[in-house]
This record gives sequence, C-alpha cells and structure tokens, in this order.
Amino acid sequence: EKDSQFSNSLIAWYLENARILPWRSTRDPYLVWLSEIILQQTRVDQGMPYYNRFSQAFPTVHHLADASEETVFKLWQGLGYYSRARNLHFTAKYVSNELDGVFPTSYSELIKLKGVGDYTASAIASICSDEAQAVVDGNVYRVLSRVFGLDTPIDTTLGKRQFRELAQQLIDPKQPGTYNQAIMEFGARYCVPRNPTCEGCIFQSKCVGYKLGKVGELPVKKGK
Ligand code: ADE
Repeated sequence: EKDSQFSNSLIAWYLENARILPWRSTRDPYLVWLSEIILQQTRVDQGMPYYNRFSQAFPTVHHLADASEETVFKLWQGLGYYSRARNLHFTAKYVSNELDGVFPTSYSELIKLKGVGDYTASAIASICSDEAQAVVDGNVYRVLSRVFGLDTPIDTTLGKRQFRELAQQLIDPKQPGTYNQAIMEFGARYCVPRNPTCEGCIFQSKCVGYKLGKVGELPVKKGK
C-alpha cells in the first residue's frame, strides 16, 4: 500500500538540504544525461568539475557529436572507466545524426541508448519528463533496507525484485524527479554506509533497522 509519509518527509528533507549542483538547474535531457553518465561511477565532488568543463565545451549534443575522439578523451582524463567516454561520444553522435539532435526523455527510448542502463534511464526520465520510474542503486538499497527493515539479500533475484517493487511503490508520481534526487541525496549524505547519524534522522521513529539495532547490518548481502 501507499506510504506517502515516506516520500513527503524525504522530499521535505531534500528541499532543505539539497546541494546546489549545476545539473539541478536544468531539465535539458542532454545536460541531465551528461551529468548522469559522469556520476555513474564517480562521486559528486569529483564529477562536478568534469560536468562543468563538458557542458561548457559542448553546450549541445551536436557540439559533443562533432568533437574529435581525442578531444573527448582528453576532457575525460582522470575519470577512468573509459568505456563511459566511448559510449558518451557514440550516443551523442547517434542522437545528433539519427534523432535530429532531439534527446529522448522517455524511459523506453532512453534505455535503448548505449551506456544508459536502468538507473540512468530512470533518473533522466523522472527529472526531464516526470515519468514515475524509481532509481535503484546502492544508496536506495541502503535507505530502504534500513527504514523498512527489508532484509532480503540484495544480491539475489528475489531481493532485487522486492527492492524494485518497494522503490516503485514509494516514488511520488507528482514529483518523481525530485523524489529520485532526494533518495540519492539522502543515501549519499545522511543514511551513509558506516556510522550514520541516526540521532536526529527524520526517519528515526519509523526506521525498522534502527528499532532493531540492525542499521549496521543492512542492507544484507548473501555472497559475503
Ligand atoms: N548520482 C547520480 N545521479 C545524481 C544526481 N542527479 N545528483 C547527485 N548525485 C547523483
């Protein structure tokens, strides 16, 4: 059933505590995609200067498509996982040439793009076109396992399905992009893996993990 209290509290927390990040002032799907690709295996602090340089050098998907491989790789230097840079450039050329530069905003179109997986497609579709697709990543596993006491191992088919279903139930359909960014931010900055500050947490009174003294053991992994 619906737990609007969770999403309402989370969004209220986010609106008070959100960092001002350059990609949060736009709904341009190209720029949001650029930020999400950079942030795939990279922390915000590290990714931000790269986002700023890329968005300045390539303000539209056509600029990125028309750049040389060498220029793109040079700007990417230091971020690692170079397949991301290769996919970035490939997808920019595809959108520029095959889609007339119109960057997709629906989950079903985004998921077809090279380098765009479930998380990235959900993030872009929710932020840019208010599609209620919940993001699920390590931050989300951690927050949901603790607050709702869901202890199914996250590295099992059943666990993945249960967390996905819970996440999908919890997303606020009226502001899915804000909700997704709120849970990302809450997991990254508050409900952190080690020694989270449960005193003063907005969910302390409902958090099952806290009640059971199990915050440090959640989320559960089978292959440990
Ligand atoms: N990590 C992945 N996507 C992010 C976003 N939009 N904001 C902050 N951190 C993120």
